[in-house]
Amino acid sequence: MLPDWNKIRDDFTVLKRTINGKPIVYLDSACMSLKPRQVIDAMNEYYERFPACGGRSIHTLGTEVSNAYSAAREKMARFINAAHPEECIWTRNATEAINIVARSLRFGDRSKIVTTSLEHHSGSLPFVERARRDGLHVKVVKAQDDGTFDIEDWKQAIDNDTRIVSVVHSSNVTGTVAPLRDIVEIAHDHGALVLSDDAQFAPHHPMDVQSPDVDFSVLSIHKMCGPSGMGLLYGKMDLLKDMDMFLTGGDTVADVRFENGEIIPEYLPPPEKFEAGLQNYAGAIGSGAAADYLLSIGMREIEKRERKLLTIAVKGLEEIDHVHILGTENVSIKTGLVTFRVDTVSSAHDVATFLNDEYAVMVRSGAHCVHPFHYQQGIKPSIGTARASFYLYNNEQDVETFLEGMRQLVDVSS
Ligand code: ALA
Repeated sequence: MLPDWNKIRDDFTVLKRTINGKPIVYLDSACMSLKPRQVIDAMNEYYERFPACGGRSIHTLGTEVSNAYSAAREKMARFINAAHPEECIWTRNATEAINIVARSLRFGDRSKIVTTSLEHHSGSLPFVERARRDGLHVKVVKAQDDGTFDIEDWKQAIDNDTRIVSVVHSSNVTGTVAPLRDIVEIAHDHGALVLSDDAQFAPHHPMDVQSPDVDFSVLSIHKMCGPSGMGLLYGKMDLLKDMDMFLTGGDTVADVRFENGEIIPEYLPPPEKFEAGLQNYAGAIGSGAAADYLLSIGMREIEKRERKLLTIAVKGLEEIDHVHILGTENVSIKTGLVTFRVDTVSSAHDVATFLNDEYAVMVRSGAHCVHPFHYQQGIKPSIGTARASFYLYNNEQDVETFLEGMRQLVDVSS
């Protein structure tokens, strides 16, 4: 059965709000998605019925938390098709997840990291810092101006000295989807690992961490209808076991002995190894509810829906003079977002302010934490670009209101 998109909109209470008498048109889901009542209810249930500690207290409330926390992990594992729920680590966001890998992965006798000019800063900087710390080398694969990659560049960049490749699966700026299967094949042929930044991919497409067979994947759960402050690190179990500790402390240990005046920890395997201290139980439970919510609608249907809206938006923008789309206009290789600049206004923030104030249309403006690709395009980060991103609760009327605002903006500014 096809999803009833109008009914789905009703799950997002915030869409009933108006600003200056106008209904909200929320086109900033690539930054932060809205939350359906099913996710909010799941978190409220934690706070109202069993707001206790998980993994420690064995009383009734504590046991209920532990059970709900494990069930949420299983839901996330199903969402990404992980072989084992224990390969899924809760984090605060995708940034923290990448930092765990960048700081804790052992490099052995390899000394090279490969990343791209299209990476979100969170995908490149943790590795740049690791390289600085340990005298490693970072090779940057330059994205083409349309946001796609030439596979030959990957073949040149990855060699037998490469320990890990950090690549954005779907760009938060151009929306282009990277040729991950080819990249994984090249990397694995050289014995290198691949970290796939799925922050923008996972909310919008069917996920399968086993195909292509990535070694690490990171998710930004607040972009996929889940609570803010939640992310996920997926890693293959043998790799996670071999990594150094990131944060340590309570609940990471099977035992801590005190012998001959020394404190000697015996660490638990993942996921506990990477989840030190009290956790965000409500956040994890809400994350599991978000995964269930999206799967109940169907990721293939969500992908198709967004592509339809994106097609209308891209076609409409192409018809407006002075608007320039960043990256390819071929929507068949894009996630549901479009980034652009308007050459009649001085900065992207002016675009966002006009759309917000006059039409209650919310887009993001700035350099989207991807300065290198903006420099590559000759765009100063301070001038930036504007980005409209679509999700399952947007409809054709939203796109039309956005385009009307854009036509009006160009009209008054040229
Ligand atoms: N990475 C987020 C974005 O693209 C913050 O907006």
